Amino acid sequence: MEVHRYEKIWIGISLLVIVGWIATVVFGAVGPGIAMVDDSGGQIADPSNPTESDAFRDPGVYQVGENEYEVYVLARQFAFQPGTSEPIRVPANSTVTFYVTSPDVTHGFEVVGTNVNTMVIPGQVAELTVEFDDPGRYGIVCNEYCGSAHHTMEGTIEVVEQDEVNGTEGDT
Ligand code: CUA
Repeated sequence: MEVHRYEKIWIGISLLVIVGWIATVVFGAVGPGIAMVDDSGGQIADPSNPTESDAFRDPGVYQVGENEYEVYVLARQFAFQPGTSEPIRVPANSTVTFYVTSPDVTHGFEVVGTNVNTMVIPGQVAELTVEFDDPGRYGIVCNEYCGSAHHTMEGTIEVVEQDEVNGTEGDT
C-alpha cells in the first residue's frame, strides 16, 4: 500500500500527541509523589470505642525509632485529641506516621502546608506518613462538615528542635 509522504508525517504527529498525553497523565499520577490514603491503617470492630481495638492505641505520640514517631489521633466533634487542647509535639527531622479515626461522624484531617489530608471515617483508621524537616507550627483543620461547630474544629502540630522534645530528660 502506498502511503503519501504528508500522510506519514501527520500519522507521526498524531502518534506523538497521543504518547504525549499519556506521558502527561502518567507523570501527574506518579511524578509528584502523591499517594492516596488506602485501608492499610486497619479497621475498628466497635467504631465508637476505637481504643478498645488492636488497630488503635491510646491517643498520643509514640516514639518507635530513632527519628520515627507514631501519632494516634481521635477526631471527634469538635476537636482533635491530641492536637486541639494540647498541640501534637514532634521533633524536626523526623518521620511521623499518623493514625486517625473517629468515634462519632466523618471528619477531615488536613495538616496545612503538607500533603497530609484525609477523610476520617468511623470504623476505619487512616494512616499517613509525613516527614517534618524544619521546626515550625502547622495547623490541623477538619475539612469535612461534621456538625454545628465544624468550623471551630482545628488543632496544632509543633515541630520543635530535637532537644526540646526530650527537655525533661536533661542534656544529651
Ligand atoms: Cu470535624 Cu468538621
